[in-house]
Amino acid sequence: MAPGALYSQEDSLRRSASSPTPAGALTIIKRCLLNRSINVNPLRLARGVGNSWYLADGTEIYDASGGAAVASIGKRNKRVERATHRIEKLGLSYAPSLGFDTDITEELATWMIRSTAGLMSKAVFYCSGSEAVEAAIKIAVQYHKEKPEPQPGKTLFIARQRSYHGATLGALDLSGHDARKRLYTEVLAGKMRLVPECHEYRNKIKGQSDAEYVQWHRKKLIEKIEEFGANRIAGFILEPVVGAALGCAPAVPGYLTAMREVCDDYGVLLIFDEIMCGMGRTGYLHAWQEENVVPDIQVVGKGLAGGFEAVSAMMIGHKVINAFRNGSSNGAFAHGQTFQNSPKGAAAALETQRIVVDEKLLENVRDKGPRLQQKIRERLGHHRYVGDIRGPKKGIFLALEFVRDKASKTPFEESEGIAMKIFSQGLTKAHGIHVYPGSGSVDGLNGDHIILAPAYNITNAEVDLIVDRTTRLVEVFFDNYDRSRKALV
Ligand SMILES: Cc1ncc(COP(=O)(O)O)c(C=O)c1O
Repeated sequence: MAPGALYSQEDSLRRSASSPTPAGALTIIKRCLLNRSINVNPLRLARGVGNSWYLADGTEIYDASGGAAVASIGKRNKRVERATHRIEKLGLSYAPSLGFDTDITEELATWMIRSTAGLMSKAVFYCSGSEAVEAAIKIAVQYHKEKPEPQPGKTLFIARQRSYHGATLGALDLSGHDARKRLYTEVLAGKMRLVPECHEYRNKIKGQSDAEYVQWHRKKLIEKIEEFGANRIAGFILEPVVGAALGCAPAVPGYLTAMREVCDDYGVLLIFDEIMCGMGRTGYLHAWQEENVVPDIQVVGKGLAGGFEAVSAMMIGHKVINAFRNGSSNGAFAHGQTFQNSPKGAAAALETQRIVVDEKLLENVRDKGPRLQQKIRERLGHHRYVGDIRGPKKGIFLALEFVRDKASKTPFEESEGIAMKIFSQGLTKAHGIHVYPGSGSVDGLNGDHIILAPAYNITNAEVDLIVDRTTRLVEVFFDNYDRSRKALV
């Protein structure tokens, strides 16, 4: 192919003298980064200060959602910088996991297991949440082959409707979120079977007690396991507090306990996806600690290293580790990745977690989270299009769900793109706030919400700022929405 044939005519007309490409080559190549859409250019961030980003023109955007619920202690941190720099100075930014480990990765693993009071047994680190979920799928399948009475036929998983567990094919296969799956259905393995999600606003009947609602879920899970046969179900994956897929929907009291009991009765591994809700977001370091229901496998990501490095983790319980120790593969987990157990990632994660402890940030989450929730409720609870405001009681993690009709909870049409539009409007100079949008929460396609999940170190003044900017954003957006609809009539 002739040089330049890959570029647009407009690009090929321009040349850049400063380009390092060989003389004569066509070099004006712009916007090479593949963003979320080829046709939409995102805003270019210039720097981050405190909990805000700045664009090159000086526009400030307060990050009220930690990006995608990631940034837990701000955009920069000197302690984290020093910790990662120490590893760089040792020449250990990368260490191959085949044959080696490092002090810092062992230290982080020990820290993680101690944080569960030793209820989990081992930890391994990857880069993304999706990778950790892939590892969880594989270790669950292998566990059933390693255990004293192997059951190699256990290769199916139960997940919940409208769930999201990651972008890679295995993790996506286990997700119940239609909008995120529909383009790829043909290449997914089809190993997932669905039960209803635990979602008070949408599927708990009026007047039903928590205990009755939990019983209903218990029955649904048992029915699903029996439909396909316990000898075929490897694990049940769920988010204790559902993040992006439903919008900060906590499990009702007793639900996790009941799911644990059913899994034990049927020899199904219980897998908690705490990638979004874990590492302090709910006011507990691990969301399961609120009800003290210990999973067999747990995955975390996002807040683990606060966004300073790309780090996720899988923690594995004693039952699974013991099966491996005594199993036919002599302790080998048949899954390895080039960048697993990254020393630099571990340094960032460990320092982030130490800061959360040293600066008493879990206490701050429990103080500022409920305050934020209450103030948002006061200001937006009665808004004509705000159907629900929800989140874990002690967490700094809440969502506003928008509905066309409050009484019937009828969602907006998917095609209206309400949550995305609110998100985009928030990023304008007039609003200067980043909220995290989500859609498909009602039936996989329709349903709009925005998530507020700011850093754990926010002050009361920042709570007020988030409340003011979010309120204004929602009010202005829907006033314009109503006006434009009236104009159409
Ligand atoms: C609950 C949950 N699981 C898995 C993932 C996938 O994580 P990642 O995007 O880091 O691959 C996400 C990402 O949003 C998530 O929220």
